[in-house]
Amino acid sequence: MSGNKSELKLWGGRFTGETDPLMNLYNASLPYDQKMYNADLDNSKYYTEGLLKAGLLTQEELDEIHRGLEIIRGEWASNSFVEKDGDEDIHTANERRLGEIIGRHIAGKVHTGRSRNDQVATDMRIYCREALDNMAKILKDLVGAILQRAEQEIDALMPGYTHLQRAQPIRWSHWLNLYATYFTEDFKRLKQIRERLNVSPLGCGALAGHPYGIDREHIAERLGFDGVIGNSLQAVSDRDFVVEILFWCSLFMNHISRFSEDLIIYSTAEFNFVKLSDAYSTGSSLMPQKKNPDSLELLRGKSGRVFGSLSGFMMSLKSIPSTYNKDMQEDKEPLFDALLTVEHSILIATGVISTLTINKESMYKALTMDMLATDLADYLVRKGVPFRETHHISGEAVRKAEELNLSGIDKISVEQYKEIDSRFGDDVVDVFDFEVSVERRTATGGTAKSAVLKQIQKLRAELSS
Ligand code: ARG
Repeated sequence: MSGNKSELKLWGGRFTGETDPLMNLYNASLPYDQKMYNADLDNSKYYTEGLLKAGLLTQEELDEIHRGLEIIRGEWASNSFVEKDGDEDIHTANERRLGEIIGRHIAGKVHTGRSRNDQVATDMRIYCREALDNMAKILKDLVGAILQRAEQEIDALMPGYTHLQRAQPIRWSHWLNLYATYFTEDFKRLKQIRERLNVSPLGCGALAGHPYGIDREHIAERLGFDGVIGNSLQAVSDRDFVVEILFWCSLFMNHISRFSEDLIIYSTAEFNFVKLSDAYSTGSSLMPQKKNPDSLELLRGKSGRVFGSLSGFMMSLKSIPSTYNKDMQEDKEPLFDALLTVEHSILIATGVISTLTINKESMYKALTMDMLATDLADYLVRKGVPFRETHHISGEAVRKAEELNLSGIDKISVEQYKEIDSRFGDDVVDVFDFEVSVERRTATGGTAKSAVLKQIQKLRAELSS
């Protein structure tokens, strides 16, 4: 990459001066775009098929080009591709190497009508498509692991929180389903982005279109695209798909960060609801007793860098004049970094959630009778009292328990309840059961076992559609 001799460069014809060595480094994207080598080679493979169809190559030339491309693919795959001075990016490196293998006369025809502008836009879409497919697969496994726990541990009850204050009893599975729902939405959103980005810019040249009437639709189909981009200027300008992926990554990290934060809290000695496996914890270099939830803290912490990638690239993109400008090369590092970070985060989260253990007793012990104050109000609603009134009456019961120094509203006697309000009956004692409270919420989305199982079923169906 350090070569500054202009004649080494594919675009060197009009240049007489040499490039500043630092400029070469500054300009080069090969160190990070080489991971798109497969996409770039496929691009050339099917683009040259199009050239053959347009009468711009002979069958022998095409065969020779394809032979060369597969040799290059093998070199990248086996880590034996030798980079040379003048290799700016994956496109120039592959083209230079093809010339060495099959001769520059034939290799020089590959780029007929193609520009690196439509080439890179195409490679990126091919690369992203595959990255998203892999992401969808591992994300599905994460949700699968969560749902499996939700099914197995459906009997564990724990407090549900608002404002991080104990609010109402829920099932642990209900909490699991909260994140299974978020991640399933992420999964669906991923599919939509994939669908939107799967259109081909190839055959649009530098910006103005193709001068040899190439069959863009046919090439697109061969490359696995669902169609072609309808405007050549837009085809080479557009990086919205990168922004969408970065936003997707950011939103996913937002979800995983909240998931992690809950589990960090639940794993403290004060809560003691869950215990992380050793595989996803680390110790302290000073305090021998410590076991820290580093995996979860990293899941929470890494969200910051992904949000940074999104906002950073949006800044790079915002005032680029149409059409291709070199600023657009800045799409790659944030994108690749975000994809890798999210991929690792999904795998780590899957490991954490499949190996942690829960402490059902601690979860249950954290439930307190005041969390049934709403159920007490609901009891009177069932007797025909308007909720606004019952809310007030139930509040009185809470106050009375405090006044009498009782441990909870369940310790108020039936007689005392009748004094608070004559509509309380002997059956008021039935309210003070956490299981009953949870089981009452049978409406879709609630905590009753039947409702939780339905959610699991629905999410599974959404993931396999
Ligand atoms: N490495 C470049 C990029 O990633 C390829 C496109 C170069 N096009 C150009 N006109 N210089 O954006």
